Amino acid sequence: MRRTKRPALAGTRILITAGPTVEPIDPVRFISNRSSGRLGYALARVARDRGARVTLVSGPTALPPPHGVRFVGITTARQMHRVCLRAAMRADLILMCAAVADYRPRATLRHKIKKHGTRTLRLTLVPNPDILADLGRRKRRGQVLVGFALETRGLLRHARKKLRAKRCDLIVANTADAIAGTHQRAVLLTPHHTTHLPPLTKTALARRILRAAQELMG
Ligand code: CTP
Repeated sequence: MRRTKRPALAGTRILITAGPTVEPIDPVRFISNRSSGRLGYALARVARDRGARVTLVSGPTALPPPHGVRFVGITTARQMHRVCLRAAMRADLILMCAAVADYRPRATLRHKIKKHGTRTLRLTLVPNPDILADLGRRKRRGQVLVGFALETRGLLRHARKKLRAKRCDLIVANTADAIAGTHQRAVLLTPHHTTHLPPLTKTALARRILRAAQELMG
């Protein structure tokens, strides 16, 4: 009798964040970043295909929500924070792939800012909650937390610092060219190992990340 193989992540509950957050300045302007969401969505598809129950919390992207995953669309970092704290309570694995804006305008103006000749315009920004750090503080026994670090310099030094400071089990470190290209060169860091990966497509990288996370889950 032929036995069908049980998918590798069957029954595992995975929370994935993806894309940018968007922080409004006034009704027509905002602060955001260049994140496309492609790696986060690839992670969601690969995890789904391996049998996981996936919740994808995403900022605005041009990508269609993958079928077969629970999709929560958000705009701001504070909305993502609220959704993630709740969803994390049930998650076995959390992949914090979103490019969360570190700062937001202190207030969202009700009306469009008007131009005042050649005078300088100052925008006051206040810090957003650090979602990953909060999830690290609340991490349950056995829960695996994966953070992402995008750096333009000092990649490994900064990534190692984030691994410790945010109590992650794994950090995926990338340089900024990851944003535009089809292939991405990443480094996987755990407290004990550093693995330099070759240039990979987003889907191939998603597979490697999930395999590494799965090993950490035991
Ligand atoms: N992150 C988060 N909440 C934030 C900022 C970042 O959860 N407010 C998460 C990202 O999803 C990513 C990781 O933290 O997994 C790294 O984000 P990054 O902005 O690179 O790290 P910071 O600690 O904010 O440091 P810096 O911006 O100074 O590099």
